[in-house]
Amino acid sequence: MLTQAPKGTRDILPDEIYKWHYIEKVIEKLCKCFGYKEIRIPVFEHTELFQRGVGDTTDIVQKEMYTFPDKGGRSISLRPEGTAGVVRSYIENGMASMPQPIKLYYNLAIYRYENVQKGRYREFHQFGVEAFGSKEPSIDVEIISILSMLFDRLGLNQVNLNINSIGCPNCRSAYNEKLKDYFKPSIQQLCFNCRNRFEKNPLRIIDCKEEQCKKIIANAPALMDNLCGECLAHFEGVKAGLENLDIKFSIDKNIVRGLDYYTKTVFEFVSEDVGTQGTICGGGRYDGLVETCGGPPTPGIGFGLGIERLLLKMESQGIQIPEPSPMDIYIASIGPKADVFAQNLVYRLRGQGVSADKDHMAKSLKAQMKYADKLGYTHIIVLGDEEIESNKAVLKNMKTGEQKDISVDSIIDRMKNQG
Ligand code: HAM
Repeated sequence: MLTQAPKGTRDILPDEIYKWHYIEKVIEKLCKCFGYKEIRIPVFEHTELFQRGVGDTTDIVQKEMYTFPDKGGRSISLRPEGTAGVVRSYIENGMASMPQPIKLYYNLAIYRYENVQKGRYREFHQFGVEAFGSKEPSIDVEIISILSMLFDRLGLNQVNLNINSIGCPNCRSAYNEKLKDYFKPSIQQLCFNCRNRFEKNPLRIIDCKEEQCKKIIANAPALMDNLCGECLAHFEGVKAGLENLDIKFSIDKNIVRGLDYYTKTVFEFVSEDVGTQGTICGGGRYDGLVETCGGPPTPGIGFGLGIERLLLKMESQGIQIPEPSPMDIYIASIGPKADVFAQNLVYRLRGQGVSADKDHMAKSLKAQMKYADKLGYTHIIVLGDEEIESNKAVLKNMKTGEQKDISVDSIIDRMKNQG
């Protein structure tokens, strides 16, 4: 136990962190171009926020939340997604009275007690975007276009965009009745959860992954075929907007998403490669969520992109992420006097923005050289008493093998100018 991370969690080790930094940088740059600003929210919230926001008939709330009482007896949950927390923050911080739309992005660790498999973890990371205040289809298109541009920048292909509309409360209430009529004769064949969902939230049955339910769901009426005029017009607007930007999409009437807050547009970017977990990203519109959470009526839309799944997809496609540049210089030293000199020199080099290091293990010169070579330093210099006294040393460029006699005094200037 002591030496094993909890199931479904993993370390991101120093030799892979550059991949994360790379993706984060691309995302950050892109978000800036689109006018989205970063928001950071707490890891935990009051459980009620997720029960009300995400929905208490969803798998996430029913089965997957890490919920516990804190020492004050409040029920607390680790965030199982980012949207509800951002909505809470939007309301709490008075963002509704600021110029709309409010455009936010985040990069968060997310917690779900799930069956662990490739691409499905209990702690994972989501890059997400939320836009508040606009009910226009153009913002749906903008949100989706962030993703298509991101995948383009990362060199990803074979990721397909599927879209659907799940309507508004108006069209959904009539549709719910249709669904109930459809499921009623087979109610006993549905799983335990779906039998509960039948009364409370029949649309949720459509998203059930149980084999016994899937067979029955296959022929259920689709919400897309039962949209009201406004929702239909909105969906047409989204489709036209995507076509305008030349973003390819398919319509998938089966997308209902696993969270209750969605209205109108829902979408997923799906790949076949990421194990059984092909959905890299999911999102949609949630025009009632701000109000449900206690704020003024405010439309909203966003998405969550799983970073682990994105990395798996990039790996399976053989996309090379540029490795970080190696350290600039290693100062190898012989003897205690040179060691003290080296400590002072690396300190001054670092002060000038040069990445430099020295020995901290009382290693022999040979071992220092081996270490520097293994870690891939671009330059090495060896200093002993003689070099310090004569102010002359040999600087070796490890990439080219070139060796140069230089004055010890000039190392800082020379390394600064390397680049
Ligand atoms: P979601 O579909 O539940 O949506 O999650 C979004 C993405 O997170 C998924 O497409 C997937 O890439 C990743 N993901 C989900 N569960 C796991 C897991 N167990 N392990 C690894 N990756 C996972 C949401 O969370 C919504 N809040 C998205 C949203 C934002 N909708 C509107 N705004």
